[in-house]
Amino acid sequence: MKLWGGRFEKNTSQLVDAFQNSIKFDWRMYKQDIKGSIAHARMLGSKGIIPQEDADLIIDGLLEILEDIETGKVEFKEEAEDIHMNIESLLIQKIGDAGKKLHTGRSRNDQVALDFRIYLKEEMNEIIHLIRELCIILLKKAEENLELIMPGYTHMQKAQPITLAHHIMAYFHMFCRDMERFYDCYRRTDIMPLGSGALAGTTYDLDREMVARELKFESISQNSMDAVADRDFVIEFIGCCSIVMMHLSRFCEELVLWNSHEFGYIELDDSMATGSSIMPQKKNPDVAELIRGKTGRVYGDLMAILTIMKALPMAYNKDMQEDKEAAFDAADTVKSCINVFIPMFDTITYNKERIREKLKEGFLNATDAADYLVGKGVAFRDAHEVIGNMVNYCIKNRKALEDLSLEEFKEFNSAFQPDIYEYIKMENCVIRRNTIGGPSPERVLEDIEKGKRFLGLI
Ligand code: ARG
Repeated sequence: MKLWGGRFEKNTSQLVDAFQNSIKFDWRMYKQDIKGSIAHARMLGSKGIIPQEDADLIIDGLLEILEDIETGKVEFKEEAEDIHMNIESLLIQKIGDAGKKLHTGRSRNDQVALDFRIYLKEEMNEIIHLIRELCIILLKKAEENLELIMPGYTHMQKAQPITLAHHIMAYFHMFCRDMERFYDCYRRTDIMPLGSGALAGTTYDLDREMVARELKFESISQNSMDAVADRDFVIEFIGCCSIVMMHLSRFCEELVLWNSHEFGYIELDDSMATGSSIMPQKKNPDVAELIRGKTGRVYGDLMAILTIMKALPMAYNKDMQEDKEAAFDAADTVKSCINVFIPMFDTITYNKERIREKLKEGFLNATDAADYLVGKGVAFRDAHEVIGNMVNYCIKNRKALEDLSLEEFKEFNSAFQPDIYEYIKMENCVIRRNTIGGPSPERVLEDIEKGKRFLGLI
């Protein structure tokens, strides 16, 4: 018999039960559901809405059910639809009539909103913690590689010299923004909806503030219809997850490239790579590729929830039950990706020789050569033209700018002096890029210090 069976003359078809139950996935919210029900029962008792003895029985019963679930003694039932009614049925089985009073002044619509908010707040805390761990590793690696000069790219073409530290710190900033985005989403998730009922509040004199305090919510919702119909917090949550994945995918893409024979900048640790079933020589960056791939899956979750919510009329609609799998999947995916990304990144070996060699190609110091002429009084646009001609000459003669003799330099512009060679050394090109936010080791070190302060490490 269904908890809502009174109005019905027939049993639900098994087909419908199998189709519409959510217990197969929302069992994951059992702790949050029990926590929420305990707070509700305590409030009902203290307000005298139900007798205190019944409230006490309910609370003890719920705690026993929690224990039963955690020790594997409970088998959830599809006929009971979802985690909320499974637990309520278990309670009634356990304590009898007092259990039937738990749902006073409550609907599953505000109950599920409550449970899901508690659940996602916990997920956000975990994800923020993981991103923080990742950021700590990034700071460590940046600090170790302050002076490792490497090519910087635009359009996947060699552009100007940077340092590995500067490159890593770019990702540090992305992940710090991700943390802030989760903090922000957390604030809007931290609103307690219980007391909104099915959609129109309730006639009981509930103490919503008390429930919010007990469940550690910052505030309570102010419109009962919005409270049960709103899943913005789920969209934002998966949105935040999507942006983290986008950042990870960019990082992974670079690691795949850097790990390729053509770049050869890095070597993955054996424990973090995989082989080929046919090609004996292979050592593949599967982890990075899979993280890149799983980004698509999280975007899919975001598209799913956005589309589910599109054009839904007020207030609760069963469509909204589809919110959970998307959010669970996004949370699981982000967590597992960060978890494996950390050791993969931490154990990378940088092939310093190879990186140094690669600095010789691609005219990374061309902008600096132009800047040199500007220093000698040439207008930048003219200097740009001169160096452009020189690069063209060098390509034809298979040389780098620094390979040219002083005579050759002077043929292009008489302002060149012997100090040009020192000026266009890669180290000096980097050291001179000393504007705030630039790659000079001094500036990057400052940035690392600020990063440490942001994470509360110093
Ligand atoms: N299992 C439902 C969900 O996840 C709970 C709310 C059901 N409310 C209802 N009126 N059918 O959304």
